[in-house]
Amino acid sequence: MNSEKIIRIDMGNLKSSDHRVIENKPHVLCLGIESSCDETAAAIVDSNRNILSHIVYSQIPEHQKYGGVVPELAARAHILAIDTVIKQTLKSAGVTLKDMDVIAATAGPGLIGGVLVGWMTAVGIAQSLDKPLVAVNHLEAHALVPRLHAATANGADGDFVTFPYLLMLASGGHCQILLVRGVGRYDLIGQTLDDSAGEAFDKIAKMLGLEYPGGPVVDERARCGNPNRFVFPRPLCDKAGCDFSFSGIKTAARTFLDKYPAPHDDGFVNDFCASFQRTVVDCIVNRLDHAMQDKRVILAKPKHLVVAGGVAKNSAIRAAMEMLAQKYKMLFAAPPLNLCTDNGAMIAWAGIENFMCNRIVTAPIAPRPRWPLTEL
Ligand code: KG4
Ligand code: ZN
Repeated sequence: MNSEKIIRIDMGNLKSSDHRVIENKPHVLCLGIESSCDETAAAIVDSNRNILSHIVYSQIPEHQKYGGVVPELAARAHILAIDTVIKQTLKSAGVTLKDMDVIAATAGPGLIGGVLVGWMTAVGIAQSLDKPLVAVNHLEAHALVPRLHAATANGADGDFVTFPYLLMLASGGHCQILLVRGVGRYDLIGQTLDDSAGEAFDKIAKMLGLEYPGGPVVDERARCGNPNRFVFPRPLCDKAGCDFSFSGIKTAARTFLDKYPAPHDDGFVNDFCASFQRTVVDCIVNRLDHAMQDKRVILAKPKHLVVAGGVAKNSAIRAAMEMLAQKYKMLFAAPPLNLCTDNGAMIAWAGIENFMCNRIVTAPIAPRPRWPLTEL
C-alpha cells in the first residue's frame, strides 16, 4: 500500500463529550462488523431492537491445533471471510448496503491485524455510499448489548436495562467491574491485575488437555463435578477493593497438576473443573459485593446488575450473579447466550446507540489495539 494513501486517523475527532440524543431518528438500520479476535461477524440491527440477520464465522477450528488464537492466521482468515459474511448478512435480512442508515465496525481494542480488516471494510462501505460511520469500542459493544434485549431473569419481560447499571464485563481479554452511566460514560470500579477470567478458563482447560476455547468445556465438565474436591486460592478476596487476580489460581493449578500428572480420569477432570469454576464464581461474587459498597455505585443507585462478555455464557456465574442481584434487590440481566461471545449484533447495536448520541466519525481515525472504556 502506498504510505501516502494510508488514512491517518485521530481518535480526537470522535465527539466524545457530545452525548446529546439526536431527535428525529425514528428508525435506524445499522450494519455492524466485528473482526477483533477469532470471529468474523456481521449483523443488521434496527433501532427497535430487532436483529434482522446475524452471521458469525468462527475461526476456532483454525486456531484449535495451536491451543489459542494466532494473530497472523486470524487476520488472514478475516480477509478471506469478510466479504462473504457481509454479503450473506445482507441477503438473509433482504436488504442492501444502500438501505443502511449507519455503518459500524470494531475499531479496537483487539488483535490489530483483524481489527484493520473489519474497520477498513467499514470505512470503504461508508465512504463509497456516503453513510455515517461509527468506530465501535469492542468493550462498549459487550457492555451495551444487554440493552438490546429485555431483561429476562428476575426482571419482568420488556423491562429493558436502563442507565446507570452495574456491569461485570468478563471476556477473553478483559475482566472489569464498571458503572455504566450512559453511552461513552463508564466508571471503572475494579479490574484484573493480571489474567482475565476467560484467560483463566482457557489456561486451566489447556493444562487438563481439554480443547480451546476452554470456557465452554470447563463449564460443561463442571456440571458433573464436585466443586469441593480441590481447594484453590481466592486471590484478593480477603482484601478491600474490587480488583481481581487470576494468575495465582493458575499457578496453584499448575503446581498441583505437576504433582499429579496425566492421565486423569473423567471424575478427576470434572471435579477439577468444578472446583476451579467455583473459585472463579466466589471471586466474582466477592468483588461485586465490594462494588456494591463503592460510593459511586451507592450514589448512582443502579437498578440492574448485568453480566456481559464471553464468560457471561457461564451457567454458574449467571446463577451466582442472579442470587447476588436478589440480595441487593436489583434486577439481574444477561445477554442471550449467542450474544455473549463476539458477534456482529453487539457491534451494530453499539453503532445505533452511538449514532443516536451523534458519536460518529467525522474524520479518519486510527484503530487501536488498546482502547480502555474510560477513554471514550
Ligand atoms: O467476549 P469473547 O467472545 O472474546 C473476547 O472479547 O475476548 O470471550 C471469549 C472468552 C474465552 O476466553 C472463552 O473461553 C470464554 O469467553 N467463554 C466462557 C464460556 N464460553 C466462552 N467462559 C466460561 N464459561 C463459558 N461457558
Ligand atoms: Zn469480545
